[in-house]
Amino acid sequence: MKRVAILISGSGSNMVALAESMVGDHPARPVLVLSNVPGAGGLAKAEALGIPTALVDHKRFGKDRAAFEAALQAELDKVQPDILCLAGFMRVLTEGFVSSWEGRMLNIHPSLLPKYRGLNTHARAIEAGDAEAGCSVHEVTAELDGGPVLGQARVPILQGDTADTLAARVLPMEHRLYPAVLRRYAAGDRTPLHLP
Ligand code: GAR
Repeated sequence: MKRVAILISGSGSNMVALAESMVGDHPARPVLVLSNVPGAGGLAKAEALGIPTALVDHKRFGKDRAAFEAALQAELDKVQPDILCLAGFMRVLTEGFVSSWEGRMLNIHPSLLPKYRGLNTHARAIEAGDAEAGCSVHEVTAELDGGPVLGQARVPILQGDTADTLAARVLPMEHRLYPAVLRRYAAGDRTPLHLP
């Protein structure tokens, strides 16, 4: 059984989708939900699901990213995960941390990578006049949102869409895509998955 730690900063809806998928014959189980934001909505959701939680508030470390990541690593060391899932974790990790987890760390990003790395993805897709948007699950490498894509799901961009209406169309696809990719990944399958 693979052990999965999920890193969050916010409401944790992707974390819930991942955690609820890891049952039955799934090859992995959630062992920790770790937030860098005190009071992140996902922490209470994890507790309600009976998953251990931890908080490493990045603000305590100021600009010292190495110290922040050492504290993250210390929490991870306690539970010995095989796989890290970033799920709305909104801190950029240093090359040192990323390389120590390379090949074992996934992220979900709300765009059809390689388009729109970084923030404000939906507004940028609408602004560009794109006909479709979506989400990608990728392996995390030192290049921001640049690692190998393991799965993508697409939705249409409709006339009159705002960043919010588009995000509301993409998020349910995130909740389908990420668990599907994690299940394959935990079983050693890295072939890209395309939804729907
Ligand atoms: C999701 O839309 C995820 O794709 C995005 O943050 C949201 C988190 O929602 N992630 C990023 O933008 C990463 N750069 P959630 O906390 O409800 O899962």
